[in-house]
Amino acid sequence: MISREFVDKVRASADIVKVISGYVSLKKRGDRYWGCCPFHNEKTPSFSVKPDDGFFYCFGCHAGGNVFKFISMYENIPYYDAVARVAEDLNIPLPRREQTPEQIAREKHIEDMRQVNKLAGTFFHNCLTMTVYGKKGLAYFHQRGIDEETIKEFSLGFAPDAWDKLSSAFLQRGISPEILVECDLARQRQRGGLFDRFRNRVMIPIRDDRGRVVGFGGRIIESSQQEQAKYLNSRETVLFNKRQLLFGLDKAYRHIEKAGFALVVEGYMDVISVYAAGIRNVVASLGTAFTREQCKKLLRYAPEIYFCYDSDEAGQNAIFRAIEVAREMENAVIKVVQMPDGKDPDEFIRKHGAEEFQKVIQGALPMVEFQLQYIVRDMDLNSLESRLQAMARILPVLSGLKNMAQRNAYVARAAQILGVAENELMNELNRQHRGRYGSYQSQSQEQVRAARPARRQADDACRRAGRVVLRAVWQEPVVLEHFAGMVPLDAVPDQVQGSVLRHMKEMLDRGEEFTDVMQFGSLGEQAVEELSRALVEEQSQQDLMGLYEDCARLLRKHYLHSQFELHRLRADRLSREGQKGYIEELALLQKIKNEMDEL
Ligand code: UTP
Ligand code: MN
Repeated sequence: MISREFVDKVRASADIVKVISGYVSLKKRGDRYWGCCPFHNEKTPSFSVKPDDGFFYCFGCHAGGNVFKFISMYENIPYYDAVARVAEDLNIPLPRREQTPEQIAREKHIEDMRQVNKLAGTFFHNCLTMTVYGKKGLAYFHQRGIDEETIKEFSLGFAPDAWDKLSSAFLQRGISPEILVECDLARQRQRGGLFDRFRNRVMIPIRDDRGRVVGFGGRIIESSQQEQAKYLNSRETVLFNKRQLLFGLDKAYRHIEKAGFALVVEGYMDVISVYAAGIRNVVASLGTAFTREQCKKLLRYAPEIYFCYDSDEAGQNAIFRAIEVAREMENAVIKVVQMPDGKDPDEFIRKHGAEEFQKVIQGALPMVEFQLQYIVRDMDLNSLESRLQAMARILPVLSGLKNMAQRNAYVARAAQILGVAENELMNELNRQHRGRYGSYQSQSQEQVRAARPARRQADDACRRAGRVVLRAVWQEPVVLEHFAGMVPLDAVPDQVQGSVLRHMKEMLDRGEEFTDVMQFGSLGEQAVEELSRALVEEQSQQDLMGLYEDCARLLRKHYLHSQFELHRLRADRLSREGQKGYIEELALLQKIKNEMDEL
């Protein structure tokens, strides 16, 4: 690991323009440089580099970050490898580790958390395999066809049906209550003391890429637990980032490299069953939507990703959304495995065996074929109305295809599915393009945008104003306090901007300075991109503060509006129900209204 100071030092010594010029030809215009973006296809430059602040941003595909981020994206290597590479080019020796006492303490703390997680894994595993409490856990696994070997391989466990078995055992060993709570293994009781977070559940340890336990998923085993959540998962900690993590990757990555593709399933149990059946290039995203971060990580090992989700409605919808994420990535090959019956891969394997499952994987559908079938799946294509509807949804899928040969082939296929003439569909596709974009020239740009679906609300006035605020705070941190007085940071309309502002507040509270957009890396890529964009956008330097004030006022207005709506609804309800509070709500509404009029 490389220290923050070292990263800062390398970044300060690196000339971002010179580094990026090694990959992209750049031209100077004003205080920035422009070139054609290497991360998407384009003919007119929308990729810019700002040497003063040390970052790049592409207005076309929204990629952005500092010099290391650029190298890591371009070369497809981890961030810290990119730091090391730039340092090497600059002849800066890698540090022999000199750390401040705070860093040492922090690393010690993280190391302690790792230890506690590891111990907890052992505790649950021993409980399952060696104690009477674990008997019903074992019975549960056996009944699901999970054998001893698999239990060992995944270090499966059991959390006893008691309030504080783990807590008291760990406290006795001298482990602090704080760290148990921080690792989400225990929670504070109202009246002091701890109780175990996981009780009467079979336990599945969640490991990071290097096989270290960072959290747990616990599943109910009895019908009497039916009113509880089926799975309870550790919440995120400094060790456990759900956007980044893929369950099973620590075991699967070598097999993904060898097989040339990753098989992505929905559940813990699916990974365990599929792996036990000898198909080892399998991972699951953790009960949440498949993220760009996870996608990138998989593409490091192989260029192809097969999604194999539950065959129910929810599973199929989740695949459709995962495809939206995955197809943004250049060069990724996406396929969809569909099981002829059986709800999920685990059940399928139990019913039909590993060989049949292999066959099903062989028959995976190409992404576009899946999209076409998904769109028409419940439609009665005999009615003209629904044929038109299906066509309207299919056209963007087709126009997202950049490769012309591929596009033509799928136009033919779509025509066949829809039962319309091929040239009719082709004409419609071309007409839409002309109609929407005026000419063919801007086509490649627009295609990129079509291929990157709106990831959140479109860029509206509020979001633009939010970026001015980000930029103002970056330059003048004191501004943040002023802004928070105008708009509570939880109420910033754009979620990504809100998360950046809250992170900025935390950093300022800790006395840290803003030096690098990657300080916001933990918030996800969108945050880094939005911040980069805020910092790169054309604004005259002199009146940034004037501009800021206008923007803060706009956001305040927006905030008051939403508050007004909220209280109006509440007042309506109270008056309908004849409740008291009504008068106070009216007074509040009047106050909000007065301020809105003044702004
Ligand atoms: P599923 O309900 O498909 O789980 O949820 P499963 O893996 O097939 O579970 P079994 O076979 O009934 O044991 C898929 C994934 O969603 C997350 C878990 O990660 C699960 O593996 N999930 C599901 C939760 O986090 N909480 C829940 O209550 C349910
Ligand atoms: Mn299942």
